[in-house]
Order: sequence, then C-alpha cells, then structure tokens
Amino acid sequence: MLVQKIIIDTDPGIDDAMAIHQAFADSRLEVVGLTTIFGNVYVDQATRNSLWLAEHGGYKCAVARGAERPISIEMNTPSFHVHGEQGFGEITEIIPVGTADPRPAHIYLSETIRANTGEIILCPIGPLSNIANLLDYDPEIINHIKKLVIMGGAVHALGNVTPYAEANFWNDPHAAEKVLEANWEIDLIGLDVTSNIQFSHDVFTQGAKNSPRIGGFIHDLSKFYINFYKRVVGKSVCLMHDPAAILAITDPDIFTFQKAPLSVILEGEKVGNSFVSENLERRPVNVAVYVDAKAAQRKFISIFSQADSAYKKRLNSQGNKKL
Ligand code: BDR
Ligand code: CA
Repeated sequence: MLVQKIIIDTDPGIDDAMAIHQAFADSRLEVVGLTTIFGNVYVDQATRNSLWLAEHGGYKCAVARGAERPISIEMNTPSFHVHGEQGFGEITEIIPVGTADPRPAHIYLSETIRANTGEIILCPIGPLSNIANLLDYDPEIINHIKKLVIMGGAVHALGNVTPYAEANFWNDPHAAEKVLEANWEIDLIGLDVTSNIQFSHDVFTQGAKNSPRIGGFIHDLSKFYINFYKRVVGKSVCLMHDPAAILAITDPDIFTFQKAPLSVILEGEKVGNSFVSENLERRPVNVAVYVDAKAAQRKFISIFSQADSAYKKRLNSQGNKKL
C-alpha cells in the first residue's frame, strides 16, 4: 500500500485535534510533522496542544512552532468561544513532556519538504501565515512540494466569521492571497463543502465505543464543539472543517472539484473573502464544490473505530506495551 507523507499546519483547536488523530489513525498516511500557528488559540498553546496530541496518540512526529501573528495585520482574538480557553473545550490538563523542534515552522517546512522532494502533501488547517513565510524564505519550494490541501475559504458559500469570510482566511488574508497566487497545486477544502459535513453525538459515540482512548478523547472534545454549533445552527451537530481536509487526501473521490483561479479581499467590509479571479494568469485552484457527506461520516467512523488498535500497534512497534 502506498503511504502518503503529510505535514499538517495547525491551530488546535477541536476540529484540528479531530483531523490530527484521524490522520494518525489512518494507515494510508504518514504524518511527518505538525507545524503550529495562532488562530483558534495563541501559537504557544497550539504548540503545546500539538505536542500533547502526538504524545497522547503515541505518534512519533516533529512539532515545529510557527508564526505568532499574521504577516501584515494585527492578530484577531483567538476563537475561545468555539474551541475553549486552551483549544480543547473543557479539557485543560494539556501538559506535554516533549519539546518542539528548534527550527521555526517555515524553516522546518523548507528543510523537510526539500529532504523529501516531490513526496509531501502540506495540509494547512489554520491561518496561512507559516505558508506565506515559507514562500518568502524559500520561493523555490514550489518545485519540491507534491501539493497543498488547504482547509480555508468560502468561494460560493457564506463565511463563518463574517457573511463574507471564512475564519482561516480572515485571520490572515494577506497570507491566503500570497499562497493562492503562487504557482503550486492546491486543493481548496472550504466552507462550500465543510459546512455540509455535520456530525451529531452518535458519530462520536461510535468512535468512543470502539476506541475508548482516542475515540473517547474525540468524543469528549466534541461536546464543547457541538454546544457552540447548537447556538449557531440550531441543532446538535458540529461542522467537520479540518477533518474534511484530511479526507480530501485519503478519499478524494467523495469530493467534486472545479478549477478556478482565486483571489482574496485584503481590506474593507469583505476582508478575507475568497472569490474567482479574473486574472487568468493565475494558476487555477482545485476548489471542492461538493462532498458526499454520508460517505464522509462512514469513513470517519471507520477510521476512529480502529484508532486504538492503530495506537496499540504503534506502541508495540516502539517496544512499549502499555495501554
Ligand atoms: C476553520 O477555522 C477554525 O476555527 C477551524 O479549526 C477551521 O480550521 C473553519 O473556518
Ligand atoms: Ca483549524
């Protein structure tokens, strides 16, 4: 079986934690590293949370701390109301034992992608500041990366922080614009599809039943997230933004994509809005416009149902038998 190497750039965050554990549990993926970014929490908390997630999952991967602010504007307040004060809802005992890679995220990304030239899919699921810094630091990186699969933007759908903008693009619109104008392959998994993947308690209960350690943790996290969405959409569900980006790597056939050059509005009332650009010199992005949400749910449940056995296998291969 071909195993796809990925690096996840993340601001954990409840749906980020779900996406990361999903990637850890899926044998079709090798998570080479996690790079961290502000967004749902401040970057130091995102780094602690990423280290802790890898340790909790018994997963050996690098964690590199990224930017603490956007590339041009002041930082917005983190989304504590969506993800909790420390990013994991009511869970606050997040004390990793390990430490981050000494390199800043953009240097870690440059060196790691070059060392695995043509093999790595970079999957940003937070604001795109680290990726913009990577392009500044190493413009030739576009020739070494396999592609980007980005959770962000709302091309035809309404935004979620304003009627126009999705949170990751809104938090650093200049970075999003820089990333979309670069000449590399991008699959964009925006609100056009992620808003349609709505999971109720039952989905998480099934994961918890079959995988008490990892699925149980995700189940506990989901309570805070569902409470937030209950106030927004009026039903007991949560929207699976970041897990959708991981699914787009492992199961692209459940999505429909349309090619379009994209641009981002940088100021004013519509700041952060992503729209189809008239600049035809810009490389078209593969924009996800449809997802089979039922198939997404089936895949998510099946991955989390075997998350604990994947965890045990990892521990055994590391010669550590405890669970
Ligand atoms: C995105 O914003 C964050 O709150 C989520 O983690 C996701 O990456 C959704 O707009
Ligand atoms: Ca995120």
